[in-house]
Amino acid sequence: MTITRRNFIRTATIAGTAGLLPLYLSRPAIAGYSYSAKDFSSPLAIPAEYHGRVENGKRVFDLAIQHGSTEFFNGYKTPTLGINGSYLGPVLRLKRGDEATFNVGNGLNKPTTMHWHGVNLPARMDGGPHQVIGVRKLWQPEFVIRQPASTLWYHSHLHQFTGPQVYQGLAGLFYIDDENSVKMDIPKTYGVDDIPLVIQDRNFNRDGSFRYISNMRDRMAGVHGSHILVNGVIRPQHHVARKQMRFRLLNGSNARIYNLKFSDNRAFVQIASDGGFLPQPIRLNRLRLAPAERAEIVVEFAHNEEVMLQHEPLPANNRGMGRMSMMMSANDRPFNIMRLLSKTPGGEIAGVPDQLATMPDWNEKQAAKTRRFQLNMAMGPGMMSGRGSGFTINRRSFDMGRIDEVVRLNDIEIWEFTNKSPMPHPVHIHDVQFRILSRNNRPPEANEHGLKDTVLVNPNETVRVITRFENYADETAAYMYHCHILEHEDQGMMAQFVVVS
Ligand code: C2O
Ligand code: CU
Ligand code: CU
Repeated sequence: MTITRRNFIRTATIAGTAGLLPLYLSRPAIAGYSYSAKDFSSPLAIPAEYHGRVENGKRVFDLAIQHGSTEFFNGYKTPTLGINGSYLGPVLRLKRGDEATFNVGNGLNKPTTMHWHGVNLPARMDGGPHQVIGVRKLWQPEFVIRQPASTLWYHSHLHQFTGPQVYQGLAGLFYIDDENSVKMDIPKTYGVDDIPLVIQDRNFNRDGSFRYISNMRDRMAGVHGSHILVNGVIRPQHHVARKQMRFRLLNGSNARIYNLKFSDNRAFVQIASDGGFLPQPIRLNRLRLAPAERAEIVVEFAHNEEVMLQHEPLPANNRGMGRMSMMMSANDRPFNIMRLLSKTPGGEIAGVPDQLATMPDWNEKQAAKTRRFQLNMAMGPGMMSGRGSGFTINRRSFDMGRIDEVVRLNDIEIWEFTNKSPMPHPVHIHDVQFRILSRNNRPPEANEHGLKDTVLVNPNETVRVITRFENYADETAAYMYHCHILEHEDQGMMAQFVVVS
């Protein structure tokens, strides 16, 4: 079904009377969530793959950051931002060993940055808040891909404006292939049985424009949209081509945590997390995915099935406590995300190999250091004024001029994050992939034994991770670590470290 202008506005009016917070001055265009399966009829968009071009032995990518206009609803043009397109960017495809060069042109009327999330690279090439690309300027980072096959991503990281820029569309996927991924017997034909799914949530104003922070709850809990987009499409459906499909999931939302399932509760197999393949495939029927986390899953289909990918509200400890829980649970209800149809899928169900990858053998005894970080959200006056000075790591709000930690090159370290706030925070560390040692002294879930760059830390939880800071040292350029709820990051829940030799 397509939304005609008339029922678009009618739905908006109904939503507008639904008892929303008084802080909603102008109302969301349409209340999402409540669509039935048959409303999922827009074809899923598959982003273009971009292999770059090889020039003097280097793989070169031209990325144009631009203003665009995207029709998420029929007849409504939403002003958006994109990379080589109007919303989001292409899937960049690189191989381990590639020397990559990027020509990142900023065609916006404001500064931006482009960060390579999950990549081990020199801090100057990281695209964090220090690598600002001015208006109409070109930024040309270069780095060598040294890490295993994985589904990474790239996005704007502009100081205090990461949230709005990503919301408007400045993000894309970044795939690394290696010998292991090329020869592994798993679905790997892009767009056929290997499909990216970038899941995002958005709010819209009545005129079709994005509606970003609109009240205190957005500021505190992060912006939760009532429309779910997959690869930039609202209410998508996809006809699966093969009996065995691989989906590469990215939670590209600013703040929302998903607990993914299929409508028939079918089991699926997770084969990869943030930093690449898991040691072994893990069978699941629910998958929690916090902002910035990735997971690759393999799902089996028979003939003539129709199944919805859905979100199921999380257990209470993933939602937050007390007053925050009220805010979060208002955000957390079940909804459909995408419809999958299998008429006559081809191919065979070959299963997936029992062993997928070997993990680095870092152990606690090798750790040169344990660093402890406390995550806080103060509900003080600074918070209520909207300046948000209450979002801190170790009681400090982000300061671009302050280096918080100094790490020695090649050291193995344990980083310990304790959440003293009433809501969960997905913590991300730049430059490295880590392994999770424990959650409140217990081993992590079976699907959390692979390489990660982002880990959800629940209220009253201490998560310990171990990693090695390899390959690049530069005392003059910093890497970030932060909460990946972009509104928290923008309000100061971020800090920086340097790696020195
Ligand atoms: Cu996904 Cu600091 O970023
Ligand atoms: Cu990052
Ligand atoms: Cu946070």
